[in-house]
Amino acid sequence: MKVSVKVPATTANLGPGFDCMGMALPVYNTVTIEETVLPGTGVEINVISEDDKADELSLEHIPMDENSIIYKAVELLYNSIGQTPSELKITIHTQIPVARGLGSSASVIVGGLLAANELLGHPADEAALLSIATEVEGHPDNVTPAIVGGLVLTSSEDDGSIVYRKLEWPKEWSITVCIPEYELATDISRSVLPKEVPIQDAVFNAKRLGMFVHALHTKDSALMKLALKDKLHQPYRMKLVPGLEKITENLKHEENVLGCVLSGAGPAILVISEKNNLDKIKSIVRDTWNDLNVKAEILTLPVEEQGAQIIKID
Ligand code: HSE
Repeated sequence: MKVSVKVPATTANLGPGFDCMGMALPVYNTVTIEETVLPGTGVEINVISEDDKADELSLEHIPMDENSIIYKAVELLYNSIGQTPSELKITIHTQIPVARGLGSSASVIVGGLLAANELLGHPADEAALLSIATEVEGHPDNVTPAIVGGLVLTSSEDDGSIVYRKLEWPKEWSITVCIPEYELATDISRSVLPKEVPIQDAVFNAKRLGMFVHALHTKDSALMKLALKDKLHQPYRMKLVPGLEKITENLKHEENVLGCVLSGAGPAILVISEKNNLDKIKSIVRDTWNDLNVKAEILTLPVEEQGAQIIKID
């Protein structure tokens, strides 16, 4: 049996929602798992990039052996029913750029889990899949929207369960995803974060997250403009993302721009704006990075409301 799963990219944090807010985007990886018939062949993992610009260095971020995150996720699922994965061929077709803060690792974890769950006859329900995926990824803000789609507020509880709610993104607001050519591994981007933060910074983010959710419900652009700020991760990561400070500065007074935030652990940047003015925003971002000799891909994307889906069973 052979199962293919299509999984969306995701952007996490969205400013104040560090480790608890994420959104699915319409760029996809496809994970195929095949039970091989030859005993003793073990687990084989192949990564095939559909992105012309991906180089081997990029793909090195997806380990292809039994230490890989996809293998760990599949193994945890098998273990949960008292089995171990033995003869499997895993193929990942990637369109999501690697190490840019767009949920490439979450996508392979989720794709692997959903495919393996199908092969095993659905032992895991959505709650179990969310818990296993979060255990492997370390935080739920990419894996939750990768599984359920849409914009989600998500929490990993002390008992390992995941509580999430979907939120509606106003159609009036555009999401422009700015992806620089350089990479930033999530573990490096997390290593610069402090273990403790000043209480006033924690309060700042608590206020912003409350504003964010209310602004969504009421489509209040003025409130969203205040909400798209953060003091828990972006200030520490600024030095790892050349151009972020300058892009934020250059867009600050631009009409219709509600905010500019790091996508996940970076280095991609999201610009949230009211519709129109998009060409101007894109050229400001492109020119700012150009001045630093950084090439970029800049895409305005809708929210992908659909989570990971099984697209083929043979
Ligand atoms: N919330 C995570 C972070 C997302 O900012 O490190 C990275 O995958």
